[in-house]
Amino acid sequence: MRIKCQTGEPTVASDGLTARCVGRWSEEKVYYISHYAEIFSTGMKNVFPERVYVDLFAGPGRCVRSDDGQETDGTPIKALQCKDPFTAYHFVEEATEPFNALQSRAKVSDRFQSISWYNKDANLAVKDIVTKIPRNTLTLAVIDPTGLHFTFDSLRTLTKGRKVDFIYLFPDGMDVRRNLETRYLAKPYNDLDDMLGTTSWRDAIKEERKKYPPTDDPICPDADKIVLKIFKEQIATLGYPHVTTGDDIQFKNSRQAHLYKLVFASRNPKGYEFWRKIQIIEPTGQRKMTYE
Ligand SMILES: C[S@@+](CC[C@H](N)C(=O)[O-])C[C@H]1O[C@@H](n2cnc3c(N)ncnc32)[C@H](O)[C@@H]1O
Repeated sequence: MRIKCQTGEPTVASDGLTARCVGRWSEEKVYYISHYAEIFSTGMKNVFPERVYVDLFAGPGRCVRSDDGQETDGTPIKALQCKDPFTAYHFVEEATEPFNALQSRAKVSDRFQSISWYNKDANLAVKDIVTKIPRNTLTLAVIDPTGLHFTFDSLRTLTKGRKVDFIYLFPDGMDVRRNLETRYLAKPYNDLDDMLGTTSWRDAIKEERKKYPPTDDPICPDADKIVLKIFKEQIATLGYPHVTTGDDIQFKNSRQAHLYKLVFASRNPKGYEFWRKIQIIEPTGQRKMTYE
């Protein structure tokens, strides 16, 4: 099949504005995130009159499929389209072109006036955002970076003393597995330490390696699982008793390689009920067999 654009690279959509060129797996990610936003805003509207949506790595608001050029909305535009509106939206995008494109695309929404805009690093933006979210508000935060760009300190700032559900893309296959030995273990302190908020993963991996006969190949087969376990334990220290990944959602590229997981955390049992519900119907519209 003819490639329309290069996955991960910027492209131009039919409205003439910049867009993200994506594989089908990215569309599936948007599908699950936007279904959670939908069910969250409707399901909680009678309990929490103030509901806030935060998109920390918002992108330009439109995706173009790499293989056939089909266009779909990104997570921030989908959030504006929920049947029951959030009372406020906070959209963060560091790169200027996608930021401007998102603003243009959001203008057609009658909820445009409820959006606060941050054309800066998400780690800086969270410090502003938390000052604008009243304490008794229920917040849904979407953290969808392309790498390990969001620090654990920033996650703490976002969630401390507030009711925040979050969906966080954890790039276990796409980044952690691929770069562990060369980029992360090789350097004394780096993005992975910052993202996890601990260096304990280094010792955990050293221990794991002892289970295998000494070899020149430093690859640790379960490294990504160990790092994910530590990330979930770290999130638990922020007061999230159950952290889950929606293991039934698989994001694979066209070569069937596993790319990432969506980590979900809520302090409310209702959040887990919603998270389970959105996994029942697959993006294809098919009902999963594993659920009643
Ligand atoms: C995976 S895309 C987001 C996709 C979006 N959720 C969607 O559905 O289309 C990640 C975005 O984060 C932006 N970005 C990268 N580093 C950032 C940072 N430190 N702070 C804020 N935005 C950042 C990139 O420019 C990119 O547009």
